[in-house]
Amino acid sequence: MTEIEKAARVIQEGGLVAFPTETVYGLGADALNPMAVARIFEVKQRPQFDPLIVHVADLRQAEILVKRLPSRAVQLAEAFWPGPLTLVLEKSSLVPDLVTASLPTVALRIPDHPLALGLIRESGRPIAAPSANPFGGVSPTTASHVRESLGDKIEMILDGGPCRVGVESTVLSLVGDTPVLLRPGGVSLEYLQSLLGEVWLAKHSPIPQAPGQLPSHYAPSTPLRFLDRLPTHLPPGRWGLLSPKNGEIFLAFSAVEVLSPQGHLQESAARLFACLRNLDALGLDGIIALSVPEEGLGRAINDRLQRAGADSAQPPSSRV
Ligand code: TXA
Ligand code: MG
Repeated sequence: MTEIEKAARVIQEGGLVAFPTETVYGLGADALNPMAVARIFEVKQRPQFDPLIVHVADLRQAEILVKRLPSRAVQLAEAFWPGPLTLVLEKSSLVPDLVTASLPTVALRIPDHPLALGLIRESGRPIAAPSANPFGGVSPTTASHVRESLGDKIEMILDGGPCRVGVESTVLSLVGDTPVLLRPGGVSLEYLQSLLGEVWLAKHSPIPQAPGQLPSHYAPSTPLRFLDRLPTHLPPGRWGLLSPKNGEIFLAFSAVEVLSPQGHLQESAARLFACLRNLDALGLDGIIALSVPEEGLGRAINDRLQRAGADSAQPPSSRV
């Protein structure tokens, strides 16, 4: 039996398999089996008001999970699937309430990874999967990240090496007349706007934000401060710096991680969570993370860093 066949068997039997996608590793279960889905919430310690993304292998499989596939959804699917775009649509009665946190909508995407697609096809099931990390923590972009935090709690991990994109999918709601960006991610807002025209940002939209888009998320255990530029001095203690690119740094940091020497956003996104983990492993007193340009993938990177820092003790006005 191949690894994919073994993993597909686990899914069919109601077990949990962590698998690579192009964005981050997912923690997957048969989306149509409520008992299996319940275990995702238990293993991740995820609150049940936070709905899951359902991964499918093709449009046919997507169609049966929704009331209807609007033409705008088909257009986006043709442009971006398989890929890092998740579409929120009205759900069909087939989708268990636990998957959608009892919302009348379901989030769907076709991941762009041969192991993910192989698993969905071989098991013959749509696969519900959040990122494969304990709730609120840093998302995993390698199999060993998953092994470290969830290894003893799940049946199997498919290892596909490091994830290419590195930040989660863009979540776009197509439920209302105007598409709403619920989470910035691997497909840029600019690209979506060029195809769709108007796109509302969830924070400015009259309809509620994505449940689960909590202010504090993606957080390392070390306190993190998200800033636009270096402070003039460091508080006492050992501090780490997450820098967007190479440059002169005059402050006495104990450790520095550079997202991308030349400041390329794609490379920065792919390295973001691994760099955060590296700094988090050093037992520092704090991490300063500097913002990247707010464009393209930069929106997703800044969004994750802002949430990673949202629990920091001090309000923004007195940051460092
Ligand atoms: O790239 C990704 O999207 C990864 C990989 C594994 O596919 N998955 C992922 O899942 O990031 P998770 O659970 O960490 O994030 C899912 C996001 C949450 O913000 C959730 O609130 C939103 O999608 N979401 C899911 N279903 C929704 C729905 N019906 N309506 C609105 N938002 C929804
Ligand atoms: Mg997550």
